[in-house]
Amino acid sequence: MLTLSIINADTGGFVGHSRVHPSMVDEARKRVESVKGSLLIDGQVATCGDDLSLILTHTHGAEDEGVHRFAFDVFMALTDIAVDLGLYGAGQDLLSDAFSGNLRGLGPGYAELTFRERVSEPVLCFLADKTEPGAWNLPLFRIFADPFNTAGLVIDPKMHAGFRFEVHDLVEGKAATFECPDELYDLALYIGAPSRYVIKQVTSRELGEPAAGTSTQRLAFMAGRYVGKDDPVMIVRCQSGLPAVGEVLEPFAFPHAVAGCMRGSYHAPLLPVTQRDAHPSRFDGPPRVVCLGYQIHDGSFVGPRDMFDDPAFDRARQQAGEVFDYLRRHGPFEPHRLPLDEMEYTTMPAVSARLADRWEQVEAPAVPAHVPGA
Ligand code: F6R
Ligand code: MG
Ligand code: MG
Repeated sequence: MLTLSIINADTGGFVGHSRVHPSMVDEARKRVESVKGSLLIDGQVATCGDDLSLILTHTHGAEDEGVHRFAFDVFMALTDIAVDLGLYGAGQDLLSDAFSGNLRGLGPGYAELTFRERVSEPVLCFLADKTEPGAWNLPLFRIFADPFNTAGLVIDPKMHAGFRFEVHDLVEGKAATFECPDELYDLALYIGAPSRYVIKQVTSRELGEPAAGTSTQRLAFMAGRYVGKDDPVMIVRCQSGLPAVGEVLEPFAFPHAVAGCMRGSYHAPLLPVTQRDAHPSRFDGPPRVVCLGYQIHDGSFVGPRDMFDDPAFDRARQQAGEVFDYLRRHGPFEPHRLPLDEMEYTTMPAVSARLADRWEQVEAPAVPAHVPGA
């Protein structure tokens, strides 16, 4: 069995929170090279905004101590470079310098899929910056459950039985699975609230094959304070009874609104970009997604192809610009700014604490509404 792991972290920005410094990319590449053929079969390094991703193949399975320790050591070394160069937010995503067993709860995000390599294995690796793991909910729903997006759900006999979705409740720390299309509406009830319910994995019901996996860590929930957004990553396997490459890319032709952007506190459109353009600027955004396409062969990467380097996505980029202008004109008002409960996970509580005494009770408090799953 082969495991494909994407492990990402922000260990310092150049300039501000906009991108990764080239010397950090060089160091990560050197370290990946040094363990190819031993710990790893293959490995590549890619960036989106201020996040660096290690894209690795190996035979050790998910959450492997050796692989995670390797990634942790890389991020520690990159933090040293960031400190030396005086880069911004050095070591931002490393909540602790004590590694024990795996990266869970330590800050870096990771998406891992374990599968038997097919005769030909096309995979798409998505990296996003200035947003959160729930940003994948809408595209995953469309890829694996919406026949208006994915023709194969109707006309490919291997896809017609649908897909199984594993959803995580990031607040309660619970997981549930939904069989689709049967439980489509139940699934939508939860994943329509992407700040809390996040699709972790998607599996083909007919083939029993894992089709997609995402990173689900929420730094603020782990640290108990705002430490930046969680800049998610995602792996999607394609073709031969799984969605076609074009079906997986199709949802990104609509730049849907995601949480993140400036100070992790705003809604903004998710902009599909080439690697050359994967550096947020205006209002620390708009949030970006890049897609690296690979053929995996004998565990090694053939690629990447820069999948959004295509004029077919120009209209989405144009539309994202218009949506961003429209939202920006709301300034500090919702729905551009996140709803209050989400602002709890930003730096806002520190500001509002100062004004807490100003509020006098003038009538009985309203009873809070029931929250599903609470
Ligand atoms: C959003 C992000 C940035 C920062 C903003 C303020 O995910 O990383 O928008 O929140 O630049 O950064 P600080 O508080 O570090 O000055
Ligand atoms: Mg940063
Ligand atoms: Mg980032």
